[in-house]
Amino acid sequence: FKIKKLVDQAYREAKLSKEEIKSILAEDINKLDYLLQKADQKRTEICGDEVHLRAIIEFSSYCKQNCHYCGLRKDNQQLERYRLRKEEIIKTSQMASELGYQTVVLQSGEDDYPAAEIAEIIKEIKKTTGMAITLSLGERDFDAYKLWREAGADRYLLKHEIASKNLYEKYHPGMSFENRIESLRYLKMLGYQIGSGVIIDLPGQTPDILAEDLLLCQKLELDMIGSGPFIPHQQTPLKGTKTGTVEMTLKFTALSRLLLPLTHIPATTALGTIDDEGRQKALKAGANVVMPNVTDGKYREQYQIYPDKICVNEEAGDCRQCIGSIISSLGRHVSQNKGHSLRK
Ligand code: 5AD
Ligand code: SF4
Ligand code: FES
Repeated sequence: FKIKKLVDQAYREAKLSKEEIKSILAEDINKLDYLLQKADQKRTEICGDEVHLRAIIEFSSYCKQNCHYCGLRKDNQQLERYRLRKEEIIKTSQMASELGYQTVVLQSGEDDYPAAEIAEIIKEIKKTTGMAITLSLGERDFDAYKLWREAGADRYLLKHEIASKNLYEKYHPGMSFENRIESLRYLKMLGYQIGSGVIIDLPGQTPDILAEDLLLCQKLELDMIGSGPFIPHQQTPLKGTKTGTVEMTLKFTALSRLLLPLTHIPATTALGTIDDEGRQKALKAGANVVMPNVTDGKYREQYQIYPDKICVNEEAGDCRQCIGSIISSLGRHVSQNKGHSLRK
């Protein structure tokens, strides 16, 4: 029947029209076993059974932006903020390396952490651990992107969140959709492996927009694409709205694998937060990456992008073990290499 034909076409050609993507996204998940199965098959062909781990350090919860959905937004004055010093970030990275991680993701709110200091941190981590370094610091000026690339950063993660200029600019006061996309293009030009992604089921998001998201991801030639469900936070303008669904997140994950076969796709923490088996489900629907937290336990509660985030009472070693057993329980194994872009 029609959906099966479209899934087969996506599997074969990695290409669907906007209308075709929409019709898959609109279909009931119970009828979509075939979609998830073909995405899993494509993942096996491209990535094998290895899962890449990216250790994430949430090093500053300061943020000057006011994204309507996020608990770290500037106007949330109930949140106690923290910022790790350079030495702490380096030490945490070295600990991650000792736990066997081969990539560290330095993530923060849009803090004004001095660009030169970030560059020093990058150089020191490279020198002492040799790990791949991903930056996830939001939008900075173009000189900073260049400085960090020259310092040795390998990848940059900057989600476009929603492929509707209208809704993007409504949910990100003072920010521009064009600048977001320009930043991603510039980062790619600098030689970064680039990651983007979306929040699934933001209020107002339609299958039409999600189809646009996938087409945009193809156009940007992403190296990584992530999607997590929207989880409403009490101290934001979107409090009281509806939580995103596991189903839509899995549909998007599977379509990401079929339409962008050569990308890394994480099973996100947000999906693990709304469903105990969420990350396992994503790993069986096209995902090949997990991003465990290595931030010191004492800070975790203060990095509440959304409520009830998992791993808040754990330490780095706990999460490493937990993820290890999740991966083996699926018959998969942790990759022994850095997991650079699948495109080259
Ligand atoms: N629910 C789910 N994901 C969120 N993010 C921010 N707020 C939320 C929320 N309420 C995601 C965004 C952003 C990253 C920091 O976390 O995709 O890029
Ligand atoms: Fe800041 Fe990022 Fe949260 Fe927006 S999503 S408020 S930029 S931390
Ligand atoms: Fe942190 Fe499972 S990954 S406890």
